Amino acid sequence: MQQHDLFSHSHSPETSTNQPSERITQLREQIRRADFAYYVEAAPILDDREYDRLFEELSALEQQHPDLITPDSPTQRVGGEPTKEFRTVQHVQPMLSLQNTYNREEVLDFDRRVRELLEGKPYEYWCDLKYDGVAMSLRYQDGALVLGLTRGDGISGDDITQNVRTIPVVPLRANAVKLSNGQELRNFEVRGEVFMTNTDFLRINEEREAAGEKLYANPRNLTAGTLKLQDPREVVKRPLQFAAYFLASEDGVLFSQADSMRLLREMGFPTALHSRLCSSLEDVFAFLDEWEERRETLPFQTDGAVIKVNNLQQQFELGAVGRFPRWAFAYKYEAKKAQTRLNAIFLQIGRTGVATPVADLEPVLLAGSTISRATLHNADYIAELDIRTGDTVVVEKGGDVIPKVSGFVTEMRPAESTPFAFPHECPCSHKQALKRYDGEAAYYCEFAGCPSQVRGRIEHWASRKAMDIEGLGEKVVDQLVEVGLLTTVADVYRLHTQRERLLGLERWAEKRVDNLLQGIEASKERPFAKVLFGVGVRFVGEETAKMLAEHFGSMERLMSATKDDFVQVFGIGERTAGAIAAWFQNPDNRALVRDLEREGLKMQHEGRIIADAVTPVQGKTFVITGTLPTMKRDEAKDLIQRYGGKVAGSVSKKTDFVLAGEEAGSKLEKAQELGVKVITEAELLAMIQPAT
Ligand code: IVH
Repeated sequence: MQQHDLFSHSHSPETSTNQPSERITQLREQIRRADFAYYVEAAPILDDREYDRLFEELSALEQQHPDLITPDSPTQRVGGEPTKEFRTVQHVQPMLSLQNTYNREEVLDFDRRVRELLEGKPYEYWCDLKYDGVAMSLRYQDGALVLGLTRGDGISGDDITQNVRTIPVVPLRANAVKLSNGQELRNFEVRGEVFMTNTDFLRINEEREAAGEKLYANPRNLTAGTLKLQDPREVVKRPLQFAAYFLASEDGVLFSQADSMRLLREMGFPTALHSRLCSSLEDVFAFLDEWEERRETLPFQTDGAVIKVNNLQQQFELGAVGRFPRWAFAYKYEAKKAQTRLNAIFLQIGRTGVATPVADLEPVLLAGSTISRATLHNADYIAELDIRTGDTVVVEKGGDVIPKVSGFVTEMRPAESTPFAFPHECPCSHKQALKRYDGEAAYYCEFAGCPSQVRGRIEHWASRKAMDIEGLGEKVVDQLVEVGLLTTVADVYRLHTQRERLLGLERWAEKRVDNLLQGIEASKERPFAKVLFGVGVRFVGEETAKMLAEHFGSMERLMSATKDDFVQVFGIGERTAGAIAAWFQNPDNRALVRDLEREGLKMQHEGRIIADAVTPVQGKTFVITGTLPTMKRDEAKDLIQRYGGKVAGSVSKKTDFVLAGEEAGSKLEKAQELGVKVITEAELLAMIQPAT
């Protein structure tokens, strides 16, 4: 994996000059390139260890020579004191808005205007996705980032340079590139969108929910909120992204949008993805159609497309009217909203006992599917929006989230309506009093045997995002819980022994039973992360489950981990860590895990394991020799690599362990000679698997 030879212009430390300033320059360049490869191209050219080594060397040199520290050094991303108030700075040229429409006709009108104003000269369009984030202007002087400004009122914006500097994909120093006049591009402005990916957004919200904090409505709000934080040390914890879509410079002439994007990329900026040069309106519409359809598959939110005249001279000729350029136009995709009547609000008791208020809606079509239920989150949400039974409400669906009620239509509120009173007891037959903890938004039913909870746990297990069991939808779960065939998740895997009873149930014939049992069997193939998500640990959503699977690698490890071990996983806070530890310590849950293991569910993560400090294999170099008792050499190698270790071909002083089997030859001798620790297969396994 190590490809530092890619840096053919650089030298290894041994051959480099003794001048610290030169070495510092080299290191910064290497780190910059590695950052670009890792963050922008998602194709790392250095492994973590090598990267850390370079970074540490640079930090150490800078500490010895503080006079050589410059603000564009990769060590200086997070710095400075928290700002009390951001100062306002004027934009070099105003940040314009875009005229936008949801209507294709108006795109035709826009094109007609462009054609007329350009008086028959040929022109092309550059189509971009419209990123749904926060607009940002970045100013570079002598190739270094000197200013990051928000859009503000378009004339001047807030100086949030300190925060922008923490965004890993934003270069602190741009690569040197030349314009067609031979002049180097050194002083310029880049504009683009700061945004957050859907996955990061969901993970942060999961974490906030766990901490009892307010949830962000969408990735844009979270991005905006993050950029306004006063302490850059907090900002750096939130994974922000940047996509550039505009370049301006006094250093020379740029010809087209396409040209600018190419230069930006060469300078090391991530540019807007999937952009396309369109030579006809037909191509433009094809772009709009394609992304209207495919936008759900993007890892970030887009609310439309931006159509721009490609040629910059033509852009200049077209000019602007007021706040709107005549050379660009935004086509927005329909927001997924609908209005309908709120028939009732009922409580749904989730698998963890959380009582979620759910809206029972008059069925309405929303983004291609009929919606009759939507979440109302919690008591505070209903109270804040003052949503009442009988209201005509607005229902929204965005990204990955379940439909939610986002407001009501004031004029349509019935005269006799009264504010919603949140119920005090669980709706199931046990009528357990609901409890609300200090600092939490949710009410809980704490009776573990509550049939709603049992149902919730099994429904969650069978749901699409967890084990995705065909034939085991909510209605079926309800029915099987009702007749006593299911009381735990593991019972699902024993249904095949209950064929006769199933056939005796209403509406169940051979074929349906077969399909259900097949669906259940197939679910045993789901990866470990899904199992982990499926068992329903409080605060562990899909993303957290994935992280846990990648970090711990197996159920065994999770069962023996402590709260502190969980806290060490980046992105897991105190509260989630506490909940996970408590879940795994609970004897009922441990019994359930064992039960599921016996039924043949996956208890091991199969991909790479990010085992930072979690197992002693991480970062160590192994040499394998001889015939191992149970594993093939390749299997052992694979296992070591999955846990972050390396496998080398020959023994040297750098070898940490020699894994030796039967008939080990010269390598074993060499190990003994050098005093390298020799281990057996069993010892290797013990390093990864804790004793149970
Ligand atoms: S070009 C003259 N390209 O949309 C304006 N804008 O309503 C040039 N936006 O404030 C803007 N993605 O924040 C452009 N690919 C893209 C964009 C984009 C998102 C935002 C931008 C701007 C707003 C305009």
